[in-house]
Amino acid sequence: MIFFNHQVQEARSRIASARAVTVLTGAGISADSGVPTFRGADGFWRNFRAEELATPEAFERNPRLVWEWYNWRRETLATKKPNDAHYALARLEGRAQDFHLITQNVDGLHRLAGSRRMSELHGDIWKVRCTNCHHIADNRDVPLALLPHCHTCGGLLRPHIVWFGESLDEQVLANSFQAVESCDVMVIVGTSGLVYPAAMLMPSAKDHGAFVIEVNLDSTAYSPDVALSLHGRAKDIVPLLL
Ligand code: OAD
Repeated sequence: MIFFNHQVQEARSRIASARAVTVLTGAGISADSGVPTFRGADGFWRNFRAEELATPEAFERNPRLVWEWYNWRRETLATKKPNDAHYALARLEGRAQDFHLITQNVDGLHRLAGSRRMSELHGDIWKVRCTNCHHIADNRDVPLALLPHCHTCGGLLRPHIVWFGESLDEQVLANSFQAVESCDVMVIVGTSGLVYPAAMLMPSAKDHGAFVIEVNLDSTAYSPDVALSLHGRAKDIVPLLL
């Protein structure tokens, strides 16, 4: 416990004196809001096959099945609220001289908590994109009428989410690399670090001299390489860092 308190103190003072702080979050931060992770014991990818639900081929084969799955996730997410970790990061954005939040989450909880300087690497489940004219629109309909079509051109809409085998938005990725390369402290919260290219952000921050702090229930792919690993729930630990 004394060691843990000492680590928290060090993390706090690093963040307080940093010129630029960049935070990377994953499903673990929303686990405390009741949203399942992807690879945990009850994670989505333990119970569903990603290749049937989250690939462009799956959508081409069976758009209704894919939409049913996203519709179900949207219905579940509509009942969830940000937790203390989301709110703490929104407060940190207001305090840090230079702050950037990069999230792999598509659940919209950071935005609901008040975060604004944000890169959503994997898209946003509350947006739809036309497969024909590529127009992106906000959509919070719950449930969504299946199959949904574009108001502008009538084309089939898809979730505005990066699926397996697809490339991330170039600008969003460039902004994210710029944020990790220019920060002096990077905080990584609740991600397994197994999905690329997001997993390349931590090594890049380190190569550019950042002090890297990890918050996670368990050890991860990042743990051997970070300066500080704080083990526990995001909702308990992240607020302590401010
Ligand atoms: P994972 O499910 O791979 O990892 C979740 C991480 O959160 C694990 O390291 C857990 O130990 C940790 N964790 C769980 N509960 C926690 C808690 N209460 N507090 C702190 N940590 C906790 O999720 P991601 O790393 O986010 O892609 O997965 C990356 C991507 O893979 C996702 O963005 C998703 C998925 O396929 C898309 O949706 C495109």
